Amino acid sequence: MSSAIAKVFGFLLLVLGTFLWIGQAVTALTGGEKAAAGAGAVEITPEGGETIFWGRGRCFTCHSMGDRGSAVRGPNQGVFGDKFPLPIGARAAERAKERSQKTGQAYTATDYLVESLAEPGAYVVEGYKNEMAIVYAPPIALSVKEVKAVISYLQSQGGELDLEALEKPSEVAKKFFAKMAAAQAAGGGDPSAGEQVYADNCASCHAIRGKGGKTGPELSAIAAKGVRFIEESILRPAKSITPGFETYSVIEKDGRKTVGLKTRDGATEVEITKATGEKVTIAKADIKEIEQDKDASVMPDNLNEAMTVKDLQDVLAYMMLQKSQ
Ligand code: HEC
Ligand code: HEC
Repeated sequence: MSSAIAKVFGFLLLVLGTFLWIGQAVTALTGGEKAAAGAGAVEITPEGGETIFWGRGRCFTCHSMGDRGSAVRGPNQGVFGDKFPLPIGARAAERAKERSQKTGQAYTATDYLVESLAEPGAYVVEGYKNEMAIVYAPPIALSVKEVKAVISYLQSQGGELDLEALEKPSEVAKKFFAKMAAAQAAGGGDPSAGEQVYADNCASCHAIRGKGGKTGPELSAIAAKGVRFIEESILRPAKSITPGFETYSVIEKDGRKTVGLKTRDGATEVEITKATGEKVTIAKADIKEIEQDKDASVMPDNLNEAMTVKDLQDVLAYMMLQKSQ
């Protein structure tokens, strides 16, 4: 009898142990523990940045630093052979001159480094492809603070270590940091990818700075309404219909039904713009019934079906960049 109890007890211990072990293994697999230890711990110093460059930031998977590391997919960030006579700190100052000329804005070396991380496609180093990672979007998802730390590390490679420029960024750098912060506020989406999602799913109805469709409201300053509001507008458009964009349903005497925005209300006729953008003019004399449908938006409520979770995050990040200037 007592041996049976011991067996059951032993079995329970084994089950408990297995659970604990699985929990541990899953945490390790998802990088949970590493992330917890890394988050917030970073300091904006070259040492802090070095840890990120060779760790969480994954920079070392594409970049070497002089003869440290072996990656060649991106430019070496140190001095290496004839191809890399200047380390990145000093090289950035050279590139900044090129960027100032090209853009007409005064770039500092730090501005160039910030741009390299915020918008890698803006300047593609000769001989390389535009395949630098978006390091502030998943899966790397560095915070703005971590990006600043890594930049201080790059500055310290033969350049001027200028922490002041990271603490009080120039006008040029400020915009880039704002872009990264917006991406993070939107759950870490990538606004550059979001611009494409927007072009494919939204631009036919919405305009940004004068470009795009006119069926829906202009979105040039939509960031001000906040990411939650924007997300809800996409997932459940009818929940809060933008004033002036109410849905009307018209039934004519012959039974025909037209649904859309009332874009004109004249003395003798109304104009209804359908979700397709098609405009239908209906004589008031032919109308049997016209009413506002409070439960439906002209904006389709199934847009997210065609989008992945990443697409949604990306388009939200792009929306959060739309601030009137
Ligand atoms: C998937 C590979 C990849 C990863 C990961 C990556 N980079 Fe890059 N990086 C590149 C490539 C390719 C280029 C060259 C093309 C370009 O200029 O965009 C580049 C360019 C750069 C430049 C401009 C270099 C110059 O000579 O002007 C800097 C600075 C830079 N990366 C820093 C970083 C940092 C810091 C990280 C980590 C936080 C990182 N990169 C992660 C591939 C990568
Ligand atoms: C078929 C046309 C159509 C498409 C496609 C469409 N929208 Fe809309 N959208 C509208 C209309 C009409 C409204 C106003 C009615 C409402 O609030 O539901 C609107 C409202 C919005 C609003 C609220 C604006 C405000 O100022 O209150 C946001 C944000 C928005 N849309 C974003 C998007 C995004 C992002 C996409 C693509 C993923 C998209 N829309 C696709 C027609 C469209």
